Amino acid sequence: MSNVHVFDHPLIQHKLSILRDKNTSVKEFRELISEIAMLMCFEATRDLPLKEVEVETPVAVAKCRTIAGKKLAVVPILRAGLGMVDGMVTMMPNVKVGHVGLFRDPDTLEPVKYYFKMPPDISERDVIIVDPMLATGGSAVAAVQFLKEVGVKHIKLMCIIGAPEGVKAMQEAHPDVDIYVAALDDHLNEHGYIVPGLGDAGDRIFGTK
Ligand code: PRP
Ligand code: URA
Repeated sequence: MSNVHVFDHPLIQHKLSILRDKNTSVKEFRELISEIAMLMCFEATRDLPLKEVEVETPVAVAKCRTIAGKKLAVVPILRAGLGMVDGMVTMMPNVKVGHVGLFRDPDTLEPVKYYFKMPPDISERDVIIVDPMLATGGSAVAAVQFLKEVGVKHIKLMCIIGAPEGVKAMQEAHPDVDIYVAALDDHLNEHGYIVPGLGDAGDRIFGTK
């Protein structure tokens, strides 16, 4: 069974409170999504393997450690996941970025795929999928499935808010994928929105409502 990590870092929780506020402007919402992604990236990469290297300082040789292991890719689920890419790339400037385009059919809540573009060596990379919202879990479950179909072996899912329903769906479909969230909310409403949540993440990032 996958692990669910809920980040209780004070900076993340403080920014999340402003993010949830219905009066927060599009500009501030966008900035906060990016900042929270950056802080979550810091925590979610805590287990990256390191290797010993020697570096010549102006004074002597220092024994240092640099990141080892497989290269990484960040994969946002369009649209709302795009808001988290800047924060991830700020922390990991050399990371490659793939894109999965999915939207939820408003009636069935089933994910509909419209785009899939990955770096050519994606099967040799570990992947962190980013999407602010894990609601029914349909979009995240499908995105993981598409990545496994092209040969990706190690995947993490990073969302800002998760619903218990989405966590359960992910754990049942992909028990090998660890889930990272800033908050686990109470439930989904009859329209599949997370309660209390923050509303429609894509609309609030891009100002489309
Ligand atoms: C939102 C969100 C997730 C999905 C979560 O995207 O960004 O991708 O819903 O819901 P689920 O867990 O029930 O699948 P949406 O479909 O609204 O598309 P958008 O990002 O283009 O606005
Ligand atoms: N997608 C969103 O943007 N918000 C929700 O609460 C659920 C799905």
